[in-house]
Formats: sequence, structure tokens, C-alpha cells
Amino acid sequence: MEILVTGGAGYIGSHTCLELIAQGHQVIIADNLSNSHRLSVKRVQSISQKEIAFYEVNLLNGKALNDIFESHSIDAVIHFAGYKAVGESIEKPLMYYQNNLQSTLSLCETMERHKVHSLVFSSSATVYGMNSKSPIAENASLSATNPYGRTKLFLEEILRDWSMTIPENSVALLRYFNPAGAHSSGLIGEDPQGIPNNLMPYITQVAAGRREILSIFGNDYDTIDGTGVRDYIHVMDLALGHVKALEYTLNTKGCDAFNLGTGKGTSVLELIEAFELATGQKVPYQISNKRSGDVATCFANPTKAKDKLSWMATRDIVEMCRDSWNWQNKHPMGYLSS
Ligand code: WQD
Repeated sequence: MEILVTGGAGYIGSHTCLELIAQGHQVIIADNLSNSHRLSVKRVQSISQKEIAFYEVNLLNGKALNDIFESHSIDAVIHFAGYKAVGESIEKPLMYYQNNLQSTLSLCETMERHKVHSLVFSSSATVYGMNSKSPIAENASLSATNPYGRTKLFLEEILRDWSMTIPENSVALLRYFNPAGAHSSGLIGEDPQGIPNNLMPYITQVAAGRREILSIFGNDYDTIDGTGVRDYIHVMDLALGHVKALEYTLNTKGCDAFNLGTGKGTSVLELIEAFELATGQKVPYQISNKRSGDVATCFANPTKAKDKLSWMATRDIVEMCRDSWNWQNKHPMGYLSS
């Protein structure tokens, strides 16, 4: 199958492209490189030994997007492209709404014009807001505490409505918990621009000497050791989850949401300990104030994906730490190190 991967040069997108190729699919990437690197596409090509059609385009450019559909016989789309920084979305909500919503609307219009009916959408556990009790199932109440999360919530509803307008349409909404890790080659990985928002890249940058010390945002939560508990999932498990969801959309109609998580919670201190054991690298840290918007505990009930997608995560927290470090150690400055 020919699969269009929007945002395919990004962290989860590039790993998903590798898995798509491994499963025999042909990959086309559309990415504006606003938060990713062209080198990641080259690396996916060299790891997989397969050519990838790459288009540096903004999905808001309707003509450029239409030209891609004219040039390829696209069977399905996996849609990652979008802004994803919670803090930035609070500072620039209009930029987030305009970009994330309009680009998805533009994509759906183009898919419709070219009679492409299968879509896998990159959603997030952030749609569960702060009120859901872990383990969280897909029928939990949905809410958002920031503009980024609201774009995911709105887009889930927009895609649900869209899926019902054409009988052949099929949409899988994938709610990621906390992606971490990297491909075992260490040639592609997470490379956030500026100061990392997320825990694992911050840990690896401290271990690589790029950052001095890790600040742990609060240690008096009602958790095993007072620090925040999250469901970290290996990016390669996440990638396979996308391939399974793609297969699901090619064999079903309508719209359905799936948690992509392990179902296990790990605290910040437990992750630091696992990282130090797995890599032999020390991670100096200090306790600082809680981060607004953070919940104490968030981990998935992954049963639905197991039952309906025949998918479950298999890699553990030690593998995530080892693979994250393997990437960062080889690329202390990310793709710019290359
Ligand atoms: C994990 C834990 C922090 C950094 C975010 C987004 C969510 C999704 C996944 C896109 C928490 C603690 C973190 C640090 C810390 N992204 N922490 N020091 O907040 O669960 O989810 O990423 O969809 O939308 O909200 O992930 O990695 O930021 O935090 O102590 O420097 O690590 O308090 O307990 P989070 P995170």
C-alpha cells in the first residue's frame, strides 16, 4: 500500500515510517520541517534501504497537498503533522488552532477529492484532562486543560463527524500516553527544539552534559514516591500500533479511539533509577515546584487496542532508557550533531 505520512520527519512519524516499510508498505512523507529534520528522512531510508518520496510542504498549502495526491496513488493517510508543545499553545492559542485545525481540514478535503477513505490520527492522552482516574479507558470523560489538548479534542470530534459523511470513510484516533525510546540503531530519535518539555529527552540531555541538572516538578503527589506517575511507551511499540491501526481502518468503517500505552505507571524517580541502571549514567536532579496542569498519575487501560487492533506494547522501561540514551549519546546535539 502507498501510505502518506504527514509529519513523517518527526520523532514518532519517522519511527512509524520504518515500521510501515518493514511491513511492506511504500511511504510518502509530507512535512514542513518546522519541528523536525530532513536528516531523519535520510536516516529512515538508510536503515530501511528503501526510497521515500519526501515533500517539504505545509499542509495549509492546498495546492501543494493536492499535487502530492495527484502524483501518488495514496491508499491511506497517517496524520502526525501539528504543533504539540503545551506551554507554547498557552502563549499562542490562535497559532495552534489555525495550524492544527486548518491543516487537518485541508487534509480531509483533499482526501475526499481523491477518494482516500482511511485515516489514522495522532491524538493524545491529553484529551482525558485532569479528572480521569487511571487506568484510563477510552470511554473515560474527555476534557482539555490547554489549547494544544483542545486542538486534539476538537479534531477527534471533527474527524468523527467527517467519518460519518461518506460510508467508506474509516478513522482511527490514537491516544498516545508518553512516548520514549528510539530505534535500536540510534540513528533516529527524539530531538526537541530548545529546552525539552518532556521528561525523557531532558534526562538524556542531562546525561549527555547538555543540561546541568534535572528539575523534578514536585515530590509530594499522592503516588508511590511523591513524584508524577506516567505510562511511558517505547516509540517502536507506538509505531507498530499505527501500522495495526492502519490495517484496522482498511478493514472497517466509521471512527474509533484507541489508547496506545503499556498500562503500567512509572514515577519520575523510578525512571531516573531505571535510566541510571540501564546506561551507567548519573542524572543529577533537584526538587522544584509542581508544573501547572500536571496530574499526579496517568496511565492507560490498553485492553481495547489489544482486543480490536491485536496490538500491545512489549518493550519495558529499561529498553526505553537504553535506546533513548543510545540515540542521545551518538547525537549529543540531536540531528545537528550529524
Ligand atoms: C512526565 C512527568 C512531569 C519534565 C506531555 C504532554 C502530553 C503528551 C505527552 C503530546 C510529569 C515530570 C517532566 C521535567 C519533570 N504530549 N517532569 N521534569 O506532561 O505527562 O505529557 O507529554 O501529546 O500532551 O502533556 O509528559 O514528559 O512532560 O512529564 O519532573 O523536566 O515528568 O511533572 O510527572 P506529560 P512529560
